Amino acid sequence: MCGIVGYIGHQQAYPILIKGLHRLEYRGYDSAGVALINSEDRLNVYKTRGKVNDLEAFCESKDIEGTIGIAHTRWATHGEPNDVNAHPHYSSNGKIAIVHNGTIENYNVLKQALEQHGCVFRSETDTEVVVQLIEYIQSTNRCPLIDAVREALNQVIGAYAIAVIDSENPDTIIAARKSSPLVIGIGEGETFIASDATPIIDYTNQVVYLRDDEIAIISRGEPLRVITNDNRTSSIDIQTLRLSVSQLEKGGYPHFMLKEIFEQPNSIYDCIRGRIVNNGTEIKLSGITDHPDRFINASRIIIVACGTSWHAALIGARLFESIARIPAQVEYASEFRYSNPIVTPQDIVIAISQSGETADTLAAIKLAKERGAFVYGVCNVVSSSIARETDTGTYIHVGPEIGVASTKAFTGQVTVLTMLALAIGQLRCTISKEKLTEMAHALINLPELIKETLKLNKNIERLSSIFTYAHNFLYLGRGYNYPSALEGALKLKEISYIHAEGYPAAEMKHGPIALIDREMPTVVIAPTDELHEKIISNIQQVKARGGSVIAIVTRGDETIPEIADHTLEIPPVPECLSPIIVSIPLQLLAYHIAVMKGCNVDMPRNLAKSVTVE
Ligand code: F6R
Repeated sequence: MCGIVGYIGHQQAYPILIKGLHRLEYRGYDSAGVALINSEDRLNVYKTRGKVNDLEAFCESKDIEGTIGIAHTRWATHGEPNDVNAHPHYSSNGKIAIVHNGTIENYNVLKQALEQHGCVFRSETDTEVVVQLIEYIQSTNRCPLIDAVREALNQVIGAYAIAVIDSENPDTIIAARKSSPLVIGIGEGETFIASDATPIIDYTNQVVYLRDDEIAIISRGEPLRVITNDNRTSSIDIQTLRLSVSQLEKGGYPHFMLKEIFEQPNSIYDCIRGRIVNNGTEIKLSGITDHPDRFINASRIIIVACGTSWHAALIGARLFESIARIPAQVEYASEFRYSNPIVTPQDIVIAISQSGETADTLAAIKLAKERGAFVYGVCNVVSSSIARETDTGTYIHVGPEIGVASTKAFTGQVTVLTMLALAIGQLRCTISKEKLTEMAHALINLPELIKETLKLNKNIERLSSIFTYAHNFLYLGRGYNYPSALEGALKLKEISYIHAEGYPAAEMKHGPIALIDREMPTVVIAPTDELHEKIISNIQQVKARGGSVIAIVTRGDETIPEIADHTLEIPPVPECLSPIIVSIPLQLLAYHIAVMKGCNVDMPRNLAKSVTVE
């Protein structure tokens, strides 16, 4: 949800900023822009609607010289995605430029006040208000830039990560954050800033994660200084990144999404590694072993998440109830935060988030903490805001997910939730040693089973060509695979723009069945499990109405292939782990249909990877 980059040092800033924007493009791609101060201390701002490639084309004949600059890739919140609303925004005197990720809630009030003082706005954005306010404070108070920025930030209400440059202070970048992420990379005589570490890793692995209400003063040739919004000096905690450049490249695949689908044997291996111990008889998660009483005495688990992570949460809740025997409920973080929820100190709130930056999930965590709950994070991005805000947690460790549609993070989340349920069950003695060992071995076996399932790729590619005509799809599943149906439908709609709905299979007859005709394919997730017989009836109900059925079945199923139009066979797997295996054909189906329709699968329209606004 908007990406920002900044550079100050001895190199030319423009190529570093552009490369950084490409890395952050997954965060938004409505428009892009760059601001540079050249060697004559002139501020040049270039911005355009479209992607970073469009910005590069726009800058071809421009003065892009300068060793200090800031840049932005936008996911529009206030104001339509056009050239004027693109960042950077600059002050009326043309000297101060800003890039911003977040939302300024009181921008209208501030804008009206500034207009009364004669300020003329160019854009419809909330961000322009901040830079105009900084200029106004600087000129009225005759104060240094840092004081003006600090004072301005004390007046704004909302979420922000910002970077500011001023042609009258050509050797300084000021960066600040509140609820939106910001990382500072410390190099040799050069400093980088970015919304996440991906634009920084090519140059340095030494980083500082700015905390809420902190302001960084990054001056050429001087050590980094960090102060708080109320002007106290902050400590600087330099961390070493564990990220490699190769993880951020497509590695021969046409899209990040396909690469990430195929990475799943390895990502699940990484996710499990070191967590199943004693010859597969014990699950060891430090988040649990460090706080045993919390889990032994827990009266309820509430899981908060959004989107795909919310689908993983539905599976998690089922696992917690059946394995750990703790009542579990799932809430959309966006609803939870405004529902005045009943939360007690005996509750454990689990927050699931790939990015670790989702604004609604972060707000839900803060609320749960205020009400005394113990908050456990399940995140992918190390040191992300959610990882830091939670009391403890477990990383899914699936590596950077760059494709906007979540794939390997979903399977990683379900894997971690399974291990969590087993570890809590082990602690509360709600699972026998034999059952735990059986499940642990099934987890260890997952990478091999995923590898085997990926062999369906060619088959699914051929099948997909039949379905590009469809305008609607129905996805049905039962039990653990009802959330798989929701996730399969979400994958298809977000990257192919085909409308798709997921339903518990038995619910079909209570309404959606009216939609079924020859034009609407139904994907039925039907592995051989307890409800297998029931789902066969559901398939027959679709067939009886002329609908075509793509069924995902367990190898060896002899009944469904006789009824369904197309079958995709997966290897046998314990029922509660089947969503992990089932997601492979679902991801591939969505991917191939979208590619055949000519859609940009890595950057679907209107979406952004990290949703840092409400
Ligand atoms: C869909 C997708 C989104 C995210 C949602 C939450 O493919 O990726 O639905 O799952 O925006 O994001 P995180 O998990 O980063 O909190």
